[in-house]
Amino acid sequence: MGKVAVAFAAAAVVAACSVAALMVGRRMKSRRKWRTVVEILKELEDACDTPVGRLRQVVDAMAVEMHAGLASEGGSKLKMLLTFVDDLPNGTEKGTYYALHLGGTYFRILRVHLGGQRSYLDVQDVERHPIPSHLMNSTSEVLFNFLAFSLERFIEKEGNGSSSQGVKRELAFTFSFPVKHTSISSGVLIKWTKGFEISEMVGKDIAECLQGALNRRGLDMHVAALVNDTVGALSLGYYHDPDTVVAVVFGTGSNACYLERTDAIIKCQGLLTTSGSMVVNMEWGNFWSSHLPRTSYDIDLDAESSNSNDMGFEKMISGMYLGDIVRRVILRMSQESDVFGPTSSVLSEPYLLRTNSVSVMHEDDTPELQEVARILKDLGVADVPLKVRKLVVKICDVVTRRAGRLAAAGIAGILKKIGRDGSGGITSGRSRNEIQMQKRTVVAVEGGLYMNYTMFREYMEEALVEILGEEVSQYVVVKAMEDGSSIGSALLVASLQSS
Ligand code: BGC
Repeated sequence: MGKVAVAFAAAAVVAACSVAALMVGRRMKSRRKWRTVVEILKELEDACDTPVGRLRQVVDAMAVEMHAGLASEGGSKLKMLLTFVDDLPNGTEKGTYYALHLGGTYFRILRVHLGGQRSYLDVQDVERHPIPSHLMNSTSEVLFNFLAFSLERFIEKEGNGSSSQGVKRELAFTFSFPVKHTSISSGVLIKWTKGFEISEMVGKDIAECLQGALNRRGLDMHVAALVNDTVGALSLGYYHDPDTVVAVVFGTGSNACYLERTDAIIKCQGLLTTSGSMVVNMEWGNFWSSHLPRTSYDIDLDAESSNSNDMGFEKMISGMYLGDIVRRVILRMSQESDVFGPTSSVLSEPYLLRTNSVSVMHEDDTPELQEVARILKDLGVADVPLKVRKLVVKICDVVTRRAGRLAAAGIAGILKKIGRDGSGGITSGRSRNEIQMQKRTVVAVEGGLYMNYTMFREYMEEALVEILGEEVSQYVVVKAMEDGSSIGSALLVASLQSS
């Protein structure tokens, strides 16, 4: 071999070696990056872990906080608000009633016609519209004028054939925010939640604001009740099944109410009702306990929210926030590795990933996870390999599993407080006999998160059985109430008229 040929051969060997070294280096680098995301995922899984022992601690904390909130005003982060609802609809109601429901994402208007028998409940003309986002930080006048205008249009559509023509229309206002009631039809806004920020409304009587707007438009409608959405759901649940004593909403926000004995509401000494009980709106979104598994993502989400240090439980379990927790995890992974490709600024936008997209990704059963790919593309993350899409599904699973299991612990906490969890409850003035007899207990549940996100629902129901045990669980029935908060509020107005 000549000198030139040797030199060529040597150069070729050197080149081949450097290409190989480069490839090995790249592979090692990419493996290191992949290891980074796997570590982030592992860290998330550990921080979100909810073994049944921990859930039981949350159950106990919930029951204890309920007790404290009932004992004194400001005694707990749980406000345990009086609703002045002491009698729930029983099926004998008659007539036509209206409901207007201002939720977190939607507002609904409907009419119900009742024929005096449980089986004769006719829900008519349900209208459901997204709340225009500019209203959430407008003024009380703008908000209530909008609601009155929407009601006016609804009524106009009734035409001449309506049975309620010429009669003053009785309206339930389902208002899904914390209210301090002075009666069933009046109460002031304590604070906004779920991203609403009309500060001048805090402290104002909500029913009065709506009535004023209706009067200004010349509408012959009377705001007969101001009802929290949970109380609406409880009313519909009770109407169909008198064993319903608890109602929970898992929607944009989350909350629960239940039927409490008046003698257990210690902060209102001498509270007398004919039924001996009253529905208490817990406002459980604000529940807090050191046993809740909190991650750095929760801390950042809270700090950057419009209501930081508030509604800690809601921020872990409700529809407004689950998507944003998932987004934050993906963002961190994309910043610390390149598995998501170049970091997209879109991904940094708060609340861009909605919880319904999380549910679509989580439940994507296409072989190549095409739905995940589509949603990631909308977040500015295009063309990621299948293993990265699988990683995203796993993140959704971890976040939603924690939410579902904590939600179950919340429900079990209420059951414990009222002596329906089979454990004997905590001291609440109940007699021993009452505690030991396991009664059938129905929990009415509603809200988009529960209704539309199967995995959330399954995790919640599974954890409830895990916490309560097979035997006690047989007595606890979880019932979905579609549109329960609106329909139930109308039923409540009907029951007020007939009592
Ligand atoms: C509100 C509650 C409401 C719940 C569900 C929370 O943000 O504070 O009053 O019941 O959302 O809509």
